[in-house]
Amino acid sequence: MQILVTGGCGFIGSNFVRHLLASNPDDQVVNLDLLTYAGNLESLSDVEADFASRYRFVRGDVRDEKLCLGLLEQAQAVVHFAAESHVDRSIGGGAEFLQTNVLGTHNLLECARRAWDGETGNSFVYVSTDEVYGALELDDPELFREDRPLAPRNPYSASKAAADHLSQAYFHTFGLPVKITRCSNTYGPYQFPEKLVPLMIANIVAGEPLPVYGDGLYVRDWLQVSDNCRATEAVLRQGRAGEAYNVGGNAERPNLEVVRLLVELVCERLGLELEERLSLITHIADRPGHDRRYATDAGKLQRELGIAPAIDFEEGMAGTVDWYLDHQDWCQRVTSGAYRDYYQKMYGQRLEQAGTGGVQET
Ligand code: NAD
Ligand code: TYD
Repeated sequence: MQILVTGGCGFIGSNFVRHLLASNPDDQVVNLDLLTYAGNLESLSDVEADFASRYRFVRGDVRDEKLCLGLLEQAQAVVHFAAESHVDRSIGGGAEFLQTNVLGTHNLLECARRAWDGETGNSFVYVSTDEVYGALELDDPELFREDRPLAPRNPYSASKAAADHLSQAYFHTFGLPVKITRCSNTYGPYQFPEKLVPLMIANIVAGEPLPVYGDGLYVRDWLQVSDNCRATEAVLRQGRAGEAYNVGGNAERPNLEVVRLLVELVCERLGLELEERLSLITHIADRPGHDRRYATDAGKLQRELGIAPAIDFEEGMAGTVDWYLDHQDWCQRVTSGAYRDYYQKMYGQRLEQAGTGGVQET
């Protein structure tokens, strides 16, 4: 089978491309990626070398109709990861989020409908997020279930929800075999260091302030990326068309607990002084409209497809710390250039207000 993966040079996409090629010797993978700030060819250099005959990279935009139609005519399935993925950036300006996440997804759906007209056995996986459900209270007994109405609350999740609705609409209106994954906060190798886990690891190592938004008691469900990849593949191959599947990590944790664990893990490995590094934790002005809690019921995935997370939270975080400590050169390279300006804009004033100036060197 030829599988088109979009956004394969990003965090989850690059892990997924590697996972697919390594576990399915008969599959061919075409990776369509625009190489925005979040996409790095270097994240797949081993794949280019190890699977040269079954892997092809195409630099391009999911909004490009001619290009996507041509690629989909050759492919039997698509797994659509490409997106603008960072909530904070969407709060700073949402236009690219609508362009890529909504219009890009619409273009891919439309191209798949035209390319696969009359064919059977195809699959279109739209990678959505648990954030489309909105937010839970800390003591809310009901977790997110797939039949919950979508109620996104920030520009990123609103754009993902719009594309989620469009994907469902293409199943109902045209019979396009769309399957949706709604995954929890994912962590692991190759995540761009603007997200909580890799950003904290980099700052702990550098001895920089660890910026925790607000009271730090915001809860996320943490999913190791290889568990996400296994689930995504199961949905691709065995998921029912027209259905959404939550993908959870069964690991709800408040942000402060995640940060403290990362400090312990880094200090243990580098022989750093624990109390000194813990004192870098700095509560800064909160994210506007910060969703208090995401927590997902992933029972449907387990019941229907037999998939549950295999990697325990502490074990997964320890492996992630090891990976980032071994790949500090990767981190430095992907955060060179415009990242420093982003970091200054995002954190500079808030850190100063919190009484700890200073912006990390990259
Ligand atoms: P990422 O930001 O690391 O990677 C996104 C990739 O998409 C990059 O390689 C980028 O170059 C590419 N891209 C962006 N715009 C493009 C365009 N117009 N055309 C082609 N390629 C383009 O994202 P990620 O964290 O790997 O997330 C992947 C998907 O999973 C996204 O759809 C995201 O919404 C979803 N998701 C992520 C998480 C998470 O915790 N990371 C959780 C739930 C859902
Ligand atoms: P993030 O990794 O941006 O993922 P998402 O917003 O999709 O959940 O953030 C995870 C949580 O960590 C979220 O509650 C915001 C918080 N956070 C901080 O407290 N400090 C930071 O520097 C970042 C990036 C996130």
